[in-house]
Amino acid sequence: MSKVFIGISQLVTPGGSGPRRGPEQAELTIIHDAAFRVERRRIAWMGAQAELTPGPGEEVIDLGGRAVVPGLIDPHTHAVWAGDRLADFDARTRGLAYEDILRRGGGIRSTIRSTARAGVEELTELALPRIRNLVASGATTIEVKSGYGFTAEAELRMLEAIRMLGRYTRARLVPTLLIHVPPEDEAGRSAYLDMVTTELMPEAARRGLATSVDVFTEREAFSVAETERVLRKARRLGLGVKLHADQFHAIGGTELAVWLGALSVDHLEASGPDQIEALAVGGTIATVLPGVTLHLGLRAAPGRALIDGGVPVAVGTDLNPGSSPLASTALAQALAVRINGLTPAEALTAGTANAASAIGRDELGRLEAGSSADFIVLDGPDWRLLSYTLGGNAVAETWIAGEKEEG
Ligand code: NIG
Ligand code: FE
Repeated sequence: MSKVFIGISQLVTPGGSGPRRGPEQAELTIIHDAAFRVERRRIAWMGAQAELTPGPGEEVIDLGGRAVVPGLIDPHTHAVWAGDRLADFDARTRGLAYEDILRRGGGIRSTIRSTARAGVEELTELALPRIRNLVASGATTIEVKSGYGFTAEAELRMLEAIRMLGRYTRARLVPTLLIHVPPEDEAGRSAYLDMVTTELMPEAARRGLATSVDVFTEREAFSVAETERVLRKARRLGLGVKLHADQFHAIGGTELAVWLGALSVDHLEASGPDQIEALAVGGTIATVLPGVTLHLGLRAAPGRALIDGGVPVAVGTDLNPGSSPLASTALAQALAVRINGLTPAEALTAGTANAASAIGRDELGRLEAGSSADFIVLDGPDWRLLSYTLGGNAVAETWIAGEKEEG
């Protein structure tokens, strides 16, 4: 049965198609006093409510004068992990740096120790409440990375947990295999990369457990040459490629991302004019992660300069236990405005249309005839509440493929 939604103060969506860059990133279509019809999980029609006459037998849902925007897309999370990083957090508040903790075998490596020994069911149970929080805060599509397994077996278990999570939520989960940190002994690096490229990646691809591969390119993680080796193999396997780059040092990861035509390069806190210039000529999306800036107290990715430089910018939570325990996709919107210098309109595009492109799903992130009926109802009549609100929840309802996601 088709559904008709009425009583919408503002129906707001990015326009155009594909990623939006420069001034286009702020261009939104706003329909006042709007309505739309959903048939077979998709938007069949949308426009002014005055133009709509519900047909016989159609279910009419009155949203009571609230604003509707596309469901948010969280293009970067590490929502599956076991253990916690509370001791790291405490140590950092007393002056120890994130990178120093990692160098001493803690940080990401401590989460690997706790995650690698957990089974698929345990990992799924631990991650489900995190996914539910993201959905309640407006996410209808969520990218989820592995990366705390380290061995092939444990990485595949993480990817299986992501698949299993899909049974308990309507949200679309997009799995990424993350090659996160190398072995601690220098001598083991090349054997580790052999394992990754000849066993782990082909197996993940064969079983359809990942749609992309991501590499953490950083002094304390993988070099540019090592990253290139992994991502070229990923491309040969038909997988998308992504990078964590320029988080602490701009060692060339962003330039490699553009060169390889990566879907996205994420972090960019240490990016400067050279990286912005490189990104402006390519099709790679720059994903900013303001939760990391807030949690680690480090510099912010240059969101304003990226947009002014003509780079399409997306935003994600980077939900993870170490650098960004940010379990609200709506709050990532709010922080992108405060921390990365985006306007509310640019942030909305960053969390919808551009985030969709960042995960290789250009068909998502907009409301238009034919699109999946993934939308959120805000807690008031003005769409800007979404990035204005800090804490609480500006998202009253999350609808995915025409169905309301409850609790
Ligand atoms: O996106 N930088 C590398 N990886 C994650 C952090 C993971 C962690 O600290 O557990 C990130 O920030
Ligand atoms: Fe990350």
